[in-house]
Amino acid sequence: MQQSNLPICTSTQLEAQYSARNYHPLPVVLSRGEGVYLWDENGIRYIDMMSAYSAVSFGHGHPKLLGALNGQAARLAVTSRAFYTDQLGTFLKAVIDATGLAGYKVLPMNSGAEAVETAVKAARKWGHKVKGIATGEAEIIVCDGNFAGRTTTIVSFSTEEQYRDGFGPFTPGFKRVPFGDARALENAITANTAAFIVEPIQGEAGIIVPPKGYLSACAEICARHNVLLICDEVQTGLGRTGRVLASQHENVKPDGVVLGKALGGGLLPVSAFIARPDVMDVFAPGDHGSTFGGNPLACAVGRAALEVLVNENLTERAEILGKEMMDELKAINSPLIKEVRGMGLLVGVEINPEIASARKVCETLLMHGVLSKDTHQTVVRFAPPLTMTAEELRDAMTRVRAAFGEFRLRGIDGA
Ligand SMILES: Cc1ncc(COP(=O)(O)O)c(C=O)c1O
Repeated sequence: MQQSNLPICTSTQLEAQYSARNYHPLPVVLSRGEGVYLWDENGIRYIDMMSAYSAVSFGHGHPKLLGALNGQAARLAVTSRAFYTDQLGTFLKAVIDATGLAGYKVLPMNSGAEAVETAVKAARKWGHKVKGIATGEAEIIVCDGNFAGRTTTIVSFSTEEQYRDGFGPFTPGFKRVPFGDARALENAITANTAAFIVEPIQGEAGIIVPPKGYLSACAEICARHNVLLICDEVQTGLGRTGRVLASQHENVKPDGVVLGKALGGGLLPVSAFIARPDVMDVFAPGDHGSTFGGNPLACAVGRAALEVLVNENLTERAEILGKEMMDELKAINSPLIKEVRGMGLLVGVEINPEIASARKVCETLLMHGVLSKDTHQTVVRFAPPLTMTAEELRDAMTRVRAAFGEFRLRGIDGA
């Protein structure tokens, strides 16, 4: 078992002195990563069951991705979109080929939030210029419990009080409906509705899986009302749930898709908004952009990440290993566990809050060499790299079982 108290060292002291207090990290100082493992400053090894919120789907230091990064960095890294480069077109084609969104177009950005902002702008402009909604009247419907990043417009449609507290005034034009309720979506649609933006599985909300048939019902409703269905697959996309896009579980081809996180291979922030051509064509030169979006370095790494996803059959692996992980977690007999839910390698364990906080469970997991993260006080998230082997998963599950057992030994308050 490993140490859990906050190590007092130069790194933590410097963070305490110079960092804004917008994070509350677990008490470990990481200094090296390889594959599914991370090491702290003292050389203690941990298994990464969080993958930087799914950004490190291909593991740490994947040789193919490092090769693409180093090779391209030495050749040409950043030019801005003021010029063509020999990397952008092939990257965009690779995004379309990998996602199966034939005929669609791609707008590259950096963070997930920027790509969601791009989707919001595209949907509004499409609503005004193509659908014929009066200027400034376009509405977007989102779901309770959504998470799409931290910009002012995005927190404007959040239902999480902490994400909004003190940050207003907010951007108008959003309507919220309960997640998982297709009838509520249909009831909320008006002639001014341009789009419905939805996560196929809500990640930050606590790995909330909607009822079967929800997304396909939403797709049918959106099509009937000429409303764009935009899936925010920043967290669920690129193999994570056992399909390249989680929307493919229901054979849905959304009108727009947002990707991020793993698109940068765990090395760089790379995101994209992908959409039907009539949606993307609302953008004219000068309407929208980003200095770093679509830079050659990001494109080379992004293309390599998509190649790794396909060549190493990581989507299939996520489906198979995900089932195994879910079965193993469900088999743990602990009063701490209220529910295990998820899809592929995106799994949430709902902790009984009367016994312990999810944070306390994560600290206990840390002592057993497992890195994971609590979300919303009651859920522990398990989202390991998709490159994890069956043997590594078994190692992780042995540690997880020991952590839950240890918890019981220490008494039900977890103290
Ligand atoms: C579904 C979803 N959309 C958007 C984002 C925002 O991505 P970023 O943190 O890169 O801005 C996240 C981040 O967790 C997410 O889970």
